[in-house]
Amino acid sequence: MHSGTTVARAPGALPGVGHLAAFLRAPLAFLRGLPAHGPLVEILFGRQRVVVVCDPGLTRRMLVQDRIFDKGGPLYERLREAGGQGLASCPAHEHRRQRRLIQPAFQQSRLPGHARVMSERMDALVPALGNGRTVDLTVETRKIAADMVISAIFGTGLDQAVHQRLAEDFHTLLAGFTRYSLTPAPLRKVPLPAYVRYQEATRRVRRKMADLTTEYRARGTGGERNLLSMLIEARAPESDQPALSDDELVDQAVTMYSAGTETTASAVCWALVLAARHPDVQRRLRDEIGTVLGGRTPGWEDVPRLVYTRQVFNEALRMYPPGWFLTRTVEADTTLGPYALSKGATVAFSPYLTSHLPTLYRNPEVFDPDRWTPGERGPEIPTGVFGGGARKCIGDGFALVEGVLLISALLSHWDIELHPDGLAAPRLPQLTLNPGRVRATLRARGSGATAAAGTARTARPS
Ligand code: HEM
Repeated sequence: MHSGTTVARAPGALPGVGHLAAFLRAPLAFLRGLPAHGPLVEILFGRQRVVVVCDPGLTRRMLVQDRIFDKGGPLYERLREAGGQGLASCPAHEHRRQRRLIQPAFQQSRLPGHARVMSERMDALVPALGNGRTVDLTVETRKIAADMVISAIFGTGLDQAVHQRLAEDFHTLLAGFTRYSLTPAPLRKVPLPAYVRYQEATRRVRRKMADLTTEYRARGTGGERNLLSMLIEARAPESDQPALSDDELVDQAVTMYSAGTETTASAVCWALVLAARHPDVQRRLRDEIGTVLGGRTPGWEDVPRLVYTRQVFNEALRMYPPGWFLTRTVEADTTLGPYALSKGATVAFSPYLTSHLPTLYRNPEVFDPDRWTPGERGPEIPTGVFGGGARKCIGDGFALVEGVLLISALLSHWDIELHPDGLAAPRLPQLTLNPGRVRATLRARGSGATAAAGTARTARPS
């Protein structure tokens, strides 16, 4: 690093491993402890130095300089193995072109159409979950969220078996992602069963997406308006050549699936779990959903009236932001505030850390959906949960609608009885902050049984 204020190193680095053991043991507690050491804090993953930006102002400043703080670092290197050079992982010089092509599919005016598809799919999937069945809510919400994203990409006609296979491989990929990313390159070549499973799942997800894309193209878009049809029809500027090659289409399909499934599912699941542990919140949520929906599946026109549901979703996003630890690579010697950073440095930021800063949120450890009461001063969504600058989440509007629709659809049809021993802390670190296994029994609303609100003991991820 060149001259400038020195970045403090977090205490507790051990020879050889640095802070890796502490990070892997209890990543959230580790992150919460970092701001005490300064606005920028250096940590060591083995020999790899990572500068964690702990100050929200400096995080924003970093995110808007996306050409200097480019996508890179161990997480994005792994993401490229699955999603190639798709929108989420491509470098800045490629990003503007892709974002321009894809943005129309996510603009505000498209949300009612997305919501209609979501509602149609939820109507097929949510009531079919099965009265009296005991399920893992993490798995079920993920399956439904995967269906939402796949339907937005390919339209609604996919076979359920395809969904199932993709979901299984994707689960393996996500479960191993962060651990695999933090493993030094030579060790990743060791054929440990977990690594082999991860690599094979990555290859299968990509291959399946390639098959689906080829089939879709061969079938013709038939006038459908979905993400893939828009990308297939997109033309390069001043030419009639396709703007994206076949490989690039697959990159985008894998990217949307990876970026859009587990994120929303995880926040929805946390919202259900947190509400169940807070009987007052649960009661208000049920009252609102009962009044607005009267037992049916929600649609776009219900969203503005599901105000408290949105507050609960927001608060779940704040407490457990799905994208919790993200990295960048410094492309040229630069400064961030008074700190000098050298080309090649790895910088990280953490929406989890930001959303637990007492300077931004009073009692950040407390689950309080009333923070998000409309008209209260402050942001409308938790600061930083969707990133910022040019690389801000393209699916933020999609996710906010989907979250409200899915929470309300589930609670409109089901009383969800969490099992007291049903919550197992997730094996962190994972790519998203999902709550781990959540065992719950579903009872049709109005069937007489009541939800055991507040009775569950939660193994809180640390
Ligand atoms: C609650 C749900 C979601 C959360 C919390 C979330 C969070 C994020 C965050 C933090 C980033 C920025 C990553 C970075 O700067 O390194 C991001 C980017 C992205 N997200 Fe989301 N996301 C969610 C849902 C979705 C959905 C539903 C989709 C698509 C259907 C999606 C697609 C993307 C894509 C493509 C990017 C890359 C954007 C770019 O670089 O231009 N996300 N998301």
